Amino acid sequence: MRLNAFLARAGVASRRRADELIKAGRVTVNGKPGQLNTVVGARDRVEVDGKEVVRQPLAYVLLHKPAGVVTTARDPQGRPTVVQLVPYEPRVVPVGRLDADTTGALLLTNDGPLAHRLAHPRYGAEKTYVAEVEGDPDEKALAALRDGIELDDGRTAPARARRLGRGRVELVLHEGRTHQVKRMLEAVGHPVTRLHRSVYAGLTLDGLAAGEWRKLTAREVEQLRTAARPPA
Ligand code: URA
Repeated sequence: MRLNAFLARAGVASRRRADELIKAGRVTVNGKPGQLNTVVGARDRVEVDGKEVVRQPLAYVLLHKPAGVVTTARDPQGRPTVVQLVPYEPRVVPVGRLDADTTGALLLTNDGPLAHRLAHPRYGAEKTYVAEVEGDPDEKALAALRDGIELDDGRTAPARARRLGRGRVELVLHEGRTHQVKRMLEAVGHPVTRLHRSVYAGLTLDGLAAGEWRKLTAREVEQLRTAARPPA
């Protein structure tokens, strides 16, 4: 692992700030000054300002996000954040975003590389949303959602869409653009009145009430790694 990634994972600093510490000569690896391209392994001793950096275990948490909570680390309007809801050590941060009024499955982790892959549409972590909408989408609207909708940031990728009942639609996406579900449904004439993410990369909310969270099992972490694998 690159030295800056090691320092970031250990919670010492962001990667960029870690690069500054390295350039300033404040980081040593086995007693020698670290360089920007230094790679560190399990046996290396890394010190910052002479103090040993202790490795943090990787952590994975699934939160049932309630409405009214923001997915950013800090909110200028002072609303509660998901990070405050999950007082977990080591600190975990959300993968991607849900709007403040959206409820449902949100993964938090300190595994930066996995988070990056899961959030990348190319690797295709599947997300299932249940939307309550104005009106009642017909087959034509559902077909448009499946085929792709022309949004101002480009056409959406093929998706799965089905009607669950009057004014209720399930959408399964691999992309995660800002307000994507709301924009797609608005574009077919059915603005969203309520949005819930029921499944994230195969993880469901079974047994978790809104506001509750739990650690993932080792098997679920494996499942996530598979979901985040690049396409063949
Ligand atoms: N799409 C949206 O519009 N909002 C969300 O919170 C998630 C997906």
